[in-house]
Amino acid sequence: MVTYEEQMNRALRPVAPPRVLEGVYRDDQHERLLRIIEEHGPWPTIAAHHFRTVDELIATTTGSIPEGIELTLDMAAAANFRGFYGQNSVCFYPEVHDCFYNAGFLELVKGYWGAQYAKPTMMLFNVCGPHRSALMSHLDAVTFRGVRYENAPVWLLNTMAKSGLFTDYLVKMAQVITWWYKGDNGTFTYWPDGPLGEPQVLRHPLWNRGVVVQNELMFHRGDPVGRREERDVPGLAHRSLLDFDAGADEWQVTTDGEVIRTYRPEEMRLLVHWNAEVYEDMDEVRKVMDHTDDLTIEEAVGRLLADMRSKGTRIAEPSDPLHDDDFVRALVGTYTIAPTTEWIERKSPAA
Ligand SMILES: [Fe+2]
Repeated sequence: MVTYEEQMNRALRPVAPPRVLEGVYRDDQHERLLRIIEEHGPWPTIAAHHFRTVDELIATTTGSIPEGIELTLDMAAAANFRGFYGQNSVCFYPEVHDCFYNAGFLELVKGYWGAQYAKPTMMLFNVCGPHRSALMSHLDAVTFRGVRYENAPVWLLNTMAKSGLFTDYLVKMAQVITWWYKGDNGTFTYWPDGPLGEPQVLRHPLWNRGVVVQNELMFHRGDPVGRREERDVPGLAHRSLLDFDAGADEWQVTTDGEVIRTYRPEEMRLLVHWNAEVYEDMDEVRKVMDHTDDLTIEEAVGRLLADMRSKGTRIAEPSDPLHDDDFVRALVGTYTIAPTTEWIERKSPAA
């Protein structure tokens, strides 16, 4: 009999091996992307965008908390900050239209999938200086027809992916992810051969270097940024913000308005993530756009409940499943799959 781990090790891998790209953006595009971050802050942490509770966060990462540890969102906070250039195929800043509605990227992702059509859906940045981060890998938000990033929380989407129950509803996606970083460490580790396979690392020089990937079905993580001794951000909280002070030419992390850490521009690591939906052919375009074969959140919750109960999990009917900690915890306990070959930091020569 095929175990859940073996089944998911086959399912949780990208449609094709990631492709490494050099010189992804032109210099003027990079400047415009960066200027938006400098001028439109302050920016919340990545976790603050997506998670209301620790359980939701854990459901999206490796799916388990060590016994006896009471984790809070502030304890789990990492000084890595996020904002969006565009969502729902709408670009929020006209000065980067050419980056978002990117003909070259569309050809790349169609080629990656061997598909006929694609459209850009979302573009975001992560920006940080040296900081502490957990060595936990994760999947990006999976999109299903009818249950999507736009109407469902990330933890639900990822639990649905890890359950293996909804593959017929998966919307094909690919990303072009690009880094600009001249500091130490901060590489990208990914598991293209499934969570039980050997990881690979995208190494320096990480300046305008990128990958074409399918990150919602491939475990991956950003490795800790900066040297160990420069990673302290004392006073960091889930609600901390990052902003650029043009007068001082420095980036500032604040908690409740108080500056707790500053970085020089050259210490910053920038990641720009561009996401597209991909359609194999016109039939698939129609199926997705016309919503003729969509799933609802209620159906998804019902299937997850039935599957958990068939596996022997005792779980009460959640009255508000999207805000029910017991339900989230039961999902995490049932659908736990994560890399067993976590890259450890001591392998990094510069750490
Ligand atoms: Fe990710």
